[in-house]
Amino acid sequence: MRHTGEATAQSLDSSQYSTASILHYESVYGEDFVSPGGYDMAMELISKLALEPGSRVLDVGCGLGGGAFVMAHEFGLIVDGIDLSKNMLDLARAKLSARGLQDRVSLEHGDCLKLDRPQHYDAIYSRDVFLHIHDKRRLFAVLYASLRSGGRLLFTDYCCGEKPWRQDFSDYVQDRGYDLYTLPTYAEVIAAAGFSHVTYRDLTKRFIDILQADIERIASIDLEEPVRDKLVQSWRGKLDRASSGDHRWGLFEAEA
Ligand SMILES: C[S@@+](CC[C@H](N)C(=O)[O-])C[C@H]1O[C@@H](n2cnc3c(N)ncnc32)[C@H](O)[C@@H]1O
Repeated sequence: MRHTGEATAQSLDSSQYSTASILHYESVYGEDFVSPGGYDMAMELISKLALEPGSRVLDVGCGLGGGAFVMAHEFGLIVDGIDLSKNMLDLARAKLSARGLQDRVSLEHGDCLKLDRPQHYDAIYSRDVFLHIHDKRRLFAVLYASLRSGGRLLFTDYCCGEKPWRQDFSDYVQDRGYDLYTLPTYAEVIAAAGFSHVTYRDLTKRFIDILQADIERIASIDLEEPVRDKLVQSWRGKLDRASSGDHRWGLFEAEA
């Protein structure tokens, strides 16, 4: 299916984030996660925020809640998770009650472009969500307004190399409806929204290592064969596009 413009809850839930697809992704990324590196990567990146227990954090595109649960349980943070996919949120809410973290984690269905919590958060954390969002200028303006002065932004996202891209990468980006930037352009857009101390790191090598380890692990996951074959094919495609230099993975940090 080809997408144009901003994703809606319906477009996400009926295609990339059908409940079956989410569960298949989770079987590869690890329990509670739908992003590269699962729990270990979340621990590493949340540690970088170095927040005091009790700090208020917004997890944009919280998915199944893995990042929010880690922030609350391991770091004593107070977390609001927001996600546009109802399927994700249904699964995340069941996990939240099973974990008993309701006093520290709230999960809300909604579009992060429509956030209205001025200067509310000490930090905003997001993992591989903004690829879905086309109006990046509005996105960073909204995030900037939601942070208290000096608040931290940390996110990872799919990025791209300079054009021209290989045809298979152009097709992939268009099929998914993604909106991808090179890392330096992304940093400029973040700074243009008012953020200071904008830094970025190209994590593509790490992404490739994670994809390779995932592919080896998929073989031993208890899945029906056609599902496993499809996942391997999808992961090999990502690995190939990342190895070509077209598909990059970026880590961005900034201060409001
Ligand atoms: C690749 S998943 C990552 C989920 C989670 N951050 C993680 O690390 O497991 C991307 C998530 O972004 C959410 N998303 C996409 N567009 C959004 C928007 N405009 N507002 C809030 N969430 C959005 C999707 O529904 C999906 O759950």
